Amino acid sequence: YSVADMGRHDHGGRAPGGAASTVPVDELTVPGDREADVRLTLTAAQGRFTLASGRELDGYTLNGSSPGPAIRAVQGQLVEVTLENASVPDGVTLHWHGVDVPGAMDGAAGVTQDAVGVGESFVYRFVADQAGTFWYHSHQVSHEQVLGGLLGPLVITPAAGAGADVDALALAHLYGGKRTVNGRDGEDRVAAEPGDTVRVRVVNTDFGVMPVWVDGAPFHVAAVDGTDLHGPEAIEGVAVEVAAGGRSDLVFTVPESGAVRVNLSGAALLVGEGGVAASEPPGDVLDLLHYGTKAPVGLDLATADREFAFGIGRRPGFLDGKPGFWWTVNGAMAPDVPMFTVAYGDVVRMRIANDSGEAHPMHLHGHHAVVLSRDGVAATGSPWWVDSLEVRDGEEFEIAFVADNPGIWMDHCHNLPHAAEGLVAHLVYE
Ligand code: C2O
Ligand code: CU
Repeated sequence: YSVADMGRHDHGGRAPGGAASTVPVDELTVPGDREADVRLTLTAAQGRFTLASGRELDGYTLNGSSPGPAIRAVQGQLVEVTLENASVPDGVTLHWHGVDVPGAMDGAAGVTQDAVGVGESFVYRFVADQAGTFWYHSHQVSHEQVLGGLLGPLVITPAAGAGADVDALALAHLYGGKRTVNGRDGEDRVAAEPGDTVRVRVVNTDFGVMPVWVDGAPFHVAAVDGTDLHGPEAIEGVAVEVAAGGRSDLVFTVPESGAVRVNLSGAALLVGEGGVAASEPPGDVLDLLHYGTKAPVGLDLATADREFAFGIGRRPGFLDGKPGFWWTVNGAMAPDVPMFTVAYGDVVRMRIANDSGEAHPMHLHGHHAVVLSRDGVAATGSPWWVDSLEVRDGEEFEIAFVADNPGIWMDHCHNLPHAAEGLVAHLVYE
């Protein structure tokens, strides 16, 4: 196999094994004696439940409902969630998708913890130090448990507030193959007055990319994957694609007519009073590679310490002794995919090339990466930080990130059946 690690370039100013590889203690642990600011218990159960809109389903709930409760924290607060498993036979965990929590809190069953069995519990503690839109979900048999409803939204607001009069959630999920918004079939509604600025936090919990578009007002994309964009321009009649697992915060002002419709491809969030006729999805799609204005990324990319290739393919072989047509990473099949090895403080560049015949929404745990280029075309817009990146067949992205969160981190496709079919790699700290 082509070894994933294409080598480490030594560069001036940093002795190998020197000061830069000393890990600050707070990257590894959350102070046990610190009081939690946000504390709740989430009880997972399997069984029949009713969506907010009345439809009955078989699946999974947290505290009796799906989606689970919205967790809201202010930046800097300590969040403590006790997960209890009342009746999920396969066991459960909670992964804080997009939050770069300490490794032990990542909720990756079989990697950072064992799944929590029936009658057991696990306490997650992390400091909510990134303001933005996130979500949580089980990371045990995730292709079934996420599909079946073991998920919920997580919003971290800056201490100064979200900067909008109305701060709304639009969590999209397909229950029984039908798209819902905030657990409702069809439409959900949030109150707002003409003149109000509104931030709609769109969360795509499904396995495929979701086009989102807005009727009734121009809008801008304020943030992607929990990170604000720099200088985003107002747009109209353009669709915004949200990758599986990804988030997009849309900001607009409610017009005199009183209502705005945020379309989620089969469901919608209505903002304000009255209705707005649903439109067809616009043919134009926003290209985040060239959206917003340039700003420093805070990474010295000229001196990358590691360069990795992440080549996605597909071929026949055996996975867990089972013959099939499985996904490959750099030609290798799970569990033989070499780990990507980094040292604390490394600047890492990764080339993700998809030559597999299908799109893959790639999700890296514990880190945010900035997109440098797509198919050799350099990014010219705002720094575009991602944790969930849609990589279409034939595309090649170059991304970069800082290895600043020690642990073992999954890097996998968020079309979760694909992850179960082998599209999983790991990032490990030496
Ligand atoms: Cu949202 Cu490894 O997952
Ligand atoms: Cu995939």
